[in-house]
Amino acid sequence: MSSQRSSKTFLQLKYGEALDTAATKKSITSLLSSHDGTEVIHHCLKEGARWGMSPDSEEPNTLEAVYILSGKLKLHRPNEGSFLEAGDFLAGQPVSEFIVLTALEDSEFLYITSNPVFHYYSSDTRNLEMLAIEIEKKDGYTADHCFRIKELSMLVGEKMELNSESLQKLHFGALLHDIGKTEVPESILLKPAKLDEEEWTIMKEHTRYGATILRKTNITHFILAAEVVEQHHERYDGSGYPKGLRRDEICLEAAIVGLVDSYDAMTSERIYSKARSKESALTEIKQLRGIKYHPEVVDYFLSVIE
Ligand SMILES: [Fe+2]
Repeated sequence: MSSQRSSKTFLQLKYGEALDTAATKKSITSLLSSHDGTEVIHHCLKEGARWGMSPDSEEPNTLEAVYILSGKLKLHRPNEGSFLEAGDFLAGQPVSEFIVLTALEDSEFLYITSNPVFHYYSSDTRNLEMLAIEIEKKDGYTADHCFRIKELSMLVGEKMELNSESLQKLHFGALLHDIGKTEVPESILLKPAKLDEEEWTIMKEHTRYGATILRKTNITHFILAAEVVEQHHERYDGSGYPKGLRRDEICLEAAIVGLVDSYDAMTSERIYSKARSKESALTEIKQLRGIKYHPEVVDYFLSVIE
């Protein structure tokens, strides 16, 4: 299957979703019309913003199409990327494929679907995002911590030429990495002193709690991201948690989020710790390349951050 200018390509998709929320002011979404279950949604993506779609085996008859009005977008495909410009379109009535588009310049397109989707923008995804922001604030970070982790992780993922499925997994895994902390008692989460052994054991469970929360949603891209959430504290040498996975037992997306989360923790001012300088954090990351952190991920991370 390929995307070609002014030709019809068949894909299987569930629904479109702006991967950059209103919080980043990078995407604008408006419902143009809705009739008999068919919706036409107008998307404006600022340069660098992303948009994605997930397959849905439960809605096999859904017809969906993306029609590019202006700008230039990269379509992330396995081992290659292709580009979409004004007049190009993708359309499909189900196969199964994840799609992620990155705007290489300010771009506009229409998304047309026979399965009403607009409500998704203000329900499940937004609710989980809000929950994630709340928990980061309780954990001593500012509200934009999750978005910083997500953005930096995606830049690393794009640099590594990950395909659309992997980028979707990375996006939601990064954004919701600590969602499981909602299940950790506040007496532990907010404790102003070092955690004792029992408390630390409970705290480490936030990885498993988070994965369970996402799997229970029954939504394709959250189920996909659950593995990232579960593994984001695993470390390359097996010293992480919850399972002590090593090397390639840890999925690549979790290795990216784990590194980016560590870097952000080192360089963020938090309630109980001062921010370290970027240089000091990078020195430590370079020293731990191939020990705590996946060597290839460190190399791509450094090429993005430096
Ligand atoms: Fe975490």
